[in-house]
Amino acid sequence: MIRKVAVMNSKGIFFRLSWLAIALLAASSSLIAASANELEPIEDKILILFPYHALLVLSGLLFLIAGMVCARYLKGKRWWLKAHRTLGIAGAALTLSGITVAIYMVSASAGLQPPGGPHAYLGIIVSLMVILTPVLGFIQLKKRDKRLQTIHRWSGRMTIALMIINAYLGWMMIQSFQ
Ligand code: HEM
Ligand code: HEM
Repeated sequence: MIRKVAVMNSKGIFFRLSWLAIALLAASSSLIAASANELEPIEDKILILFPYHALLVLSGLLFLIAGMVCARYLKGKRWWLKAHRTLGIAGAALTLSGITVAIYMVSASAGLQPPGGPHAYLGIIVSLMVILTPVLGFIQLKKRDKRLQTIHRWSGRMTIALMIINAYLGWMMIQSFQ
């Protein structure tokens, strides 16, 4: 009975977490739209929009770290996979929306251009990895293949590590603006 209640609670928590991610996305996109319209001149867009970009990718990173903690330390719980999957997908969605904001703010301020600089290049690699990693997660569950399991595990760890490095590079860039 106690166990059943615990499982239901954890399900409730992850259900609420997904809603939190969706609410965060909705709130930030309306804020971004509002601030983007008020902006003049157009060059200011990076300075005004980067907090939304940073907030979205950093919350994505937090979700992904929480998902990794579930897979690494909470495997004894019955709900770990559900939690890991939900947190991983929500984290990937938040990260991809943050990157969309980045592409919008850069192209609005400098026109449509190919990405430039280490932060942007690493960001593009991260966007591919946050798509590839959950896909690998689903495939490894279906095929039950040890090699795929190892690849998924390492691609997840690499994604998180690269995001931490890129957050640092982004922070350094902001420092250099001031
Ligand atoms: C971007 C999203 C995801 C990331 C970053 C991620 C990351 C990871 C990491 C780091 C581990 C290994 C944890 C450890 O032992 O150190 C892991 C394990 C696992 N993940 Fe994911 N994951 C993601 C999405 C998914 C999805 C969507 C599924 C399935 C539907 C999934 C299924 C699994 C399974 C079954 C394991 C256990 C395999 C093992 O023992 O290594 N993952 N994941
Ligand atoms: C955590 C992972 C992060 C990822 C994956 C990421 C990704 C990206 C990408 C892909 C771009 C380039 C867009 C383009 O050139 O079209 C970009 C631009 C930018 N990011 Fe990030 N970012 C991250 C974190 C941060 C953080 C934490 C900050 C600030 C504190 C930041 C500040 C910026 C700024 C200011 C730009 C505009 C750069 C320019 O003038 O070209 N980023 N980001």
